[in-house]
Amino acid sequence: MGAGPGDAALVDALCAWYERARRDLPWRRTRDPYAVWISEIMLQQTRVDTAGPYWERFLTRFPSVEALAAADLEEVLRLWAGLGYYSRARNLHAAARLVAADHGGELPSDEASLRALPGVGRYTAGAIRSIAFHQQAPLVDGNVARVLSRLFSLEGDPATPAGQRVLWELAGRLVPAGARASVFNQGLMELGATVCSPREPACDACPLATACAARAEGRQAALPPSKKARPVPDRTVDVLALSRANLLFVARRPPEGLWGGLWELPERARLRPAPRTTTPIGEVIHLLTHLRIRFVLHAAPAPRRPIRLSEYIDQRWLTRAELAAGAVPLSTAARRVLALLPE
Ligand code: ADE
Repeated sequence: MGAGPGDAALVDALCAWYERARRDLPWRRTRDPYAVWISEIMLQQTRVDTAGPYWERFLTRFPSVEALAAADLEEVLRLWAGLGYYSRARNLHAAARLVAADHGGELPSDEASLRALPGVGRYTAGAIRSIAFHQQAPLVDGNVARVLSRLFSLEGDPATPAGQRVLWELAGRLVPAGARASVFNQGLMELGATVCSPREPACDACPLATACAARAEGRQAALPPSKKARPVPDRTVDVLALSRANLLFVARRPPEGLWGGLWELPERARLRPAPRTTTPIGEVIHLLTHLRIRFVLHAAPAPRRPIRLSEYIDQRWLTRAELAAGAVPLSTAARRVLALLPE
């Protein structure tokens, strides 16, 4: 794909709009590659409003790669608690240790070294290279995919490899050199986040409206083609509230997998032996991207003998006040299950 005749005007219009309309977000006041990296990882599955305070706290506690590399994973997870997708925090921690060991604590700026870091994919490498290092590197995320699909009236589904290939090529053709790479890439994302929204794009407020192929065809709401609605699998998990005096029994999940390293009321099926008599307390439905979990909470008498668990790596008895005060990191799902307990 060669450069199209209208590309330069389009890039100019978007950059000018971004300089004027951009939201003042905390990570936009820095070019520190480490701080940019943390923001881009947080923003991958978290909304801007939610991520803001987390980013501030994270940077205050871990102001540098070295500070993060020296920290306990436990503390990193505690600061992450509530953001979800905890593998992001585990990857950040592991990557910080690699950067400290192999790059003298300075985040590398080349594509290959960045992508060798756990949790850094093509998007994150593009974001760090363009935003922090002002390199002419493209990026495509969900917002960018939507904006480009409409602007160029692309029929491909961005969820497919073929759709991604076209989008990355296009983003690579458009991205300008130098500091404008940062402005352009963030402008695409900002436009997708604030104007070119999924259902009812605000074309009247769009700086690219006259250049937009989908709009000329009146098809802006139909592009990009939506993913086939896939049924989300269902799971039921029975959870136990074992109490002794004013203490509650909590267990820690293994480091790998869903909610790795976080604490929760134990799943019934992981107690050896599982208690026979239990009293239902309530239930809560928890939605993940690919899974719908129905947690059913039961009260059970605390066993007199020491509790044996499978697929947990640690256990403790804590008061509810200690749990509420963050004595151990809990997932959002675990908090919601705990909230089912009567006061
Ligand atoms: N979403 C994720 N990173 C972003 C950024 N740097 N600017 C705008 N939106 C974003």
